Amino acid sequence: MKGLNELKAAIGNCTNCTLYETRSCVVMDEERERVILLLLGEAPGGHEDRISGKPFSGEAGHILTDLLEKVGLKRNQCYITNSVKCRPTKPSQKGRYGPYANRKPKVSEIKACRCFLENEISLLKPKVIATLGGVPLGSILHKSSVRLEEYHGKPFFSQEFNCYVFPLYHPASIIYRPRLGQVYEEDLNKLKIFLSNKFNEKG
Ligand code: URA
Repeated sequence: MKGLNELKAAIGNCTNCTLYETRSCVVMDEERERVILLLLGEAPGGHEDRISGKPFSGEAGHILTDLLEKVGLKRNQCYITNSVKCRPTKPSQKGRYGPYANRKPKVSEIKACRCFLENEISLLKPKVIATLGGVPLGSILHKSSVRLEEYHGKPFFSQEFNCYVFPLYHPASIIYRPRLGQVYEEDLNKLKIFLSNKFNEKG
């Protein structure tokens, strides 16, 4: 791939799994010249797929923006993307965006999409990938499930991607587990210190 536009076109033509059947657009962030921090989420939700075409623009995105701001990290200085590029859906009459609701991506869908993630990372060459939740960390580690309790807040180096990986919880997990809010802030503070020590990056 020569650039993000070519990657976007390839994702738009992808039929590697069945998620293309309900894809309404390719959800992708703006290209950035220099990416220190790449935030890696799970998969687009309804708002991202149906309304904005931008990752983390719905409810989880607002939580993410607030959390980043609390520790003085700026969202527009990170590149944000997802492990699975199309919205995983299940039929639902109560869906806010058409007759579908969001669901977690299947392991087969995560695997089918990994080639795009690999391409994206090799184009952007981030210094640090902060994974948001178990799905992106599992994808990075080639594991079908991970225990985030063991990994969160502890950076490690990925030989495969030639950069650090900093595991975080998924921002939406705070909705279901409000006590994680405190842990999340502590982890983000660690990330901020990590970025400024290693890359002199203020966020
Ligand atoms: N929106 C995204 O783009 N990714 C997520 O993981 C959740 C919401």
